Amino acid sequence: MPYYIQRLYNICKASFSSDGPVADEALEKVRAMLDKIKPSDVGLEQEAQVVRAWSGSAPERNGSRPSLPPIKYLHLHESASFSIGIFCMPPSSIIPLHNHPGMTVLSKLVYGSMHVKSYDWVDAVAAIDPVQARPARLVKDAEMTAPCPTTILYPTSGGNIHCFRAITPCAIFDILSPPYSSENGRHCTYFRRSPRRDLPGELELDGTTVSNITWLEEFQPPDNFVIRRGVYKGPVIRT
Ligand SMILES: [Fe+2]
Repeated sequence: MPYYIQRLYNICKASFSSDGPVADEALEKVRAMLDKIKPSDVGLEQEAQVVRAWSGSAPERNGSRPSLPPIKYLHLHESASFSIGIFCMPPSSIIPLHNHPGMTVLSKLVYGSMHVKSYDWVDAVAAIDPVQARPARLVKDAEMTAPCPTTILYPTSGGNIHCFRAITPCAIFDILSPPYSSENGRHCTYFRRSPRRDLPGELELDGTTVSNITWLEEFQPPDNFVIRRGVYKGPVIRT
């Protein structure tokens, strides 16, 4: 029997094209496989052990904040159809609000706990001044602790714009289809809540009132937001 990660790769290869999932059933197969992932399948057993013994708070020195280790991205695979990678987040670290334009994203928390917040745009209009705030609807605002089910974000639903805050050390296994590609107009853009106070909290859309509107605007993430390349120590994927 091939390694778990090899079987997952094989299913992804059969399920994704450069336009995304080839069919709903194909996406479901990937989800079913991703639901079974364990830290030991991707070389993260030691990191998961640390979390099992986690006492709850990050160490503090003399009341000052210790400098945290950076968020690490472990690259497993990328083709024109899909990418596979793992974000390893130290406690209290944040991946700011960002989007996945035209992409389907499967995410699975491998170990640890995090807080996730996600939004979808309420207007499907693309031709909007990107500098201006755009209305979005909150889809999810919840704490997640591994093991928990896979989350799927779709191009216009499911919470395509999201942010993560690590509560304990945690790792998120991500499959994107198609992957980010600047050439094809799929860049990662960061957002924040607009500080403007004059924007309405409700909008009238096709005759129905959508409440709980959050206005998001593009922003440059702070300088202390850094993602470093980490070393993947799990079984090698044969492509
Ligand atoms: Fe993301």
